Amino acid sequence: MKHFITLADLPNFDATLDLAMSLKKDPIQMDTIGRGKTLGLLFFNPSLRTRLSTQKAAQNLGLPTMVMNFSQESWALEFEDGTKMSGLRSEHVREAAAVVSQYCDMVAIRAFATLSDKEKDEAEIVLRSFAKYATVPIINMESATAHPLQALADAITIKEHLPKHKPKVVLTWAPHPKALPHAVGNSFTKMMAHMEADFVIAHPQGYALNPEITADVKCVTNQEEALEGADFVYTKNWCSYEHYGQILRTDEKWMVTPEKMELTNNGKFMHCLPIRRNIVASDGVLDNSNSLVIEQSHNRIYSAQAILTQLLKNG
Ligand code: CP
Repeated sequence: MKHFITLADLPNFDATLDLAMSLKKDPIQMDTIGRGKTLGLLFFNPSLRTRLSTQKAAQNLGLPTMVMNFSQESWALEFEDGTKMSGLRSEHVREAAAVVSQYCDMVAIRAFATLSDKEKDEAEIVLRSFAKYATVPIINMESATAHPLQALADAITIKEHLPKHKPKVVLTWAPHPKALPHAVGNSFTKMMAHMEADFVIAHPQGYALNPEITADVKCVTNQEEALEGADFVYTKNWCSYEHYGQILRTDEKWMVTPEKMELTNNGKFMHCLPIRRNIVASDGVLDNSNSLVIEQSHNRIYSAQAILTQLLKNG
């Protein structure tokens, strides 16, 4: 694995999951593997879980970290080639990526979608530019279209709670007052292709995810029908993909409530967090013992640690 930008970069999904679960059992089993190396964490957007869990993962491997809030602390970067840089952008990614590579042996980056230009977002300009001009591995801490560290943590969480039968897993859209990206929904969908499960996506009209990503997935527009018999209910908002970046509805009809969870097979509730209470899901869902949201956040440590371990082993 040269970089970890999407789940497709993993040499072996199942082996990565096994490694993560082994690291969870004994987090400091390889606590010197990072000695003498440095992990850089560059944030173009805010974070709680990703920042702290990745730092904790590095700490468990004896790997020092350097963190920079790029959007606030660094020079504004230019990504276009051949531009006359007379505006507000003071440094080109060509130099920035090369410079950071002198200080860090791996660089993890968070750079969200703009949600204003689908073509640019899908080109993953920030991550792909760093991957092109850095001389060290790049790790995706949520990009415009993917959040693979979250999806790996979600896979660990599902595996830890598997029923004896083949589970039914529902990814359901839920309302939100702001336009949110598709990254979590995309990566969860791709991750589910590796799991033995009946997987269904439920979303209102106009909220279909990228059809290339959902090509082999059952997608329905009736949430309650989808929830019937579900063992896991993964809830997430995303803005319209078809009408890119737009919010088409904010009414409560799709909020996940205890009444809707009653339709499931004593289903576990999942969300990547942060979550807006009583907008996306009600208090009664989040405070129920079937909610796995805190466990998902815990597992972010081991998903990051499994990736860092593999990159360190690659040398
Ligand atoms: N789930 C997640 O990525 O959380 P943060 O945005 O807080 O990092």
